Amino acid sequence: MSIATEIPRLIDPAGVEASAHPRPMNVGSDAQREQTVRDTGGAPSTDFAGRSNPYIDYESIDLLLSLQHPRSAAHDEMLFILMGQVKELLFKALHHELHNVRALLRRDKLDEVLILLARAREIAAYIAASWNVLSTITTRGFSEFRDYLGSASGQLSFMYRHVEFILGNKNEALARAHRNVPHVWPAMEAALRSPSLWDEAIALIDRAGFKVEASCLDRDWAETYKPQPSVEAAWLAVYGRCDPTDPLTRFAESLLALGDQMSQYRFRHFTSVERIIGMKPGTGGSSGVAWLRAVVDQRFFPELWTVRTRM
Ligand code: HEM
Repeated sequence: MSIATEIPRLIDPAGVEASAHPRPMNVGSDAQREQTVRDTGGAPSTDFAGRSNPYIDYESIDLLLSLQHPRSAAHDEMLFILMGQVKELLFKALHHELHNVRALLRRDKLDEVLILLARAREIAAYIAASWNVLSTITTRGFSEFRDYLGSASGQLSFMYRHVEFILGNKNEALARAHRNVPHVWPAMEAALRSPSLWDEAIALIDRAGFKVEASCLDRDWAETYKPQPSVEAAWLAVYGRCDPTDPLTRFAESLLALGDQMSQYRFRHFTSVERIIGMKPGTGGSSGVAWLRAVVDQRFFPELWTVRTRM
């Protein structure tokens, strides 16, 4: 028996301004807020001119909440769409931190890097925990709307691909899925062909005197990364300082903690998928669980994992 669903109509789409650009807004100040409190007598403001309010305009909330369109009558499809969108936003939050980590690495700003990496790890943990909600979708519940996905698949998430690429897992074949999307492809191609955060981390330890092979510092960045013995040796030397307060050691541990969270995200995706669709093929053209199993075995920052054996 399936749950008969109701979708409450909360917004009239005809009134929503659908522009992807920011809406005009006033900039506040301490003085303005104090004056407002004097005017309101301390109660929140509730009278606004025009057809919107500042909260709605600041984050285009009415537009954001108008973008969930279940294609079937299945109850679980709304949750699936919402959680997919939440994840896209969190992938963007993660990428924002990682993009800035990479920029700071180029300037040897390790103190700031450690602050942003701690946040990135928390975001990755949050994304991994979202599977707790998604895996309440049962096999029957999912199959009620799965056909409506057509060939849509998370594997086509350009935001996730940006996260993978900046972390160092380049894959030209998967990037090519976005070639035909003119507003997405230029940034995707640039990400494919630029050094990743891991490439910049390797360059940083080389500059710090932990030398790596020249081929690790200048290569075709679009090629799938292959772990390098000289990189593992350099990290072994960093850890050989035996000082947990050493900034490079803390950097290595911070990267590893992020890589660990990303592996947990992949593992949770993998087990949730097996739980929901068993051994059925994916909607994106892959064999499904069998393809994802190989993904689970990959590690970001691979030499930081393999060096453990030698420590
Ligand atoms: C809950 C039901 C889900 C199922 C059954 C499922 C299933 C799959 C399958 C079978 C694949 C392999 C590619 C293919 O489609 O052939 C895949 C890949 C992927 N899925 Fe999901 N998925 C689900 C939800 C999600 C959600 C909500 C997201 C996040 C937005 C997501 C993100 C991804 C990503 C990023 C990949 C590519 C992995 C990689 O490139 O390493 N999936 N999924």
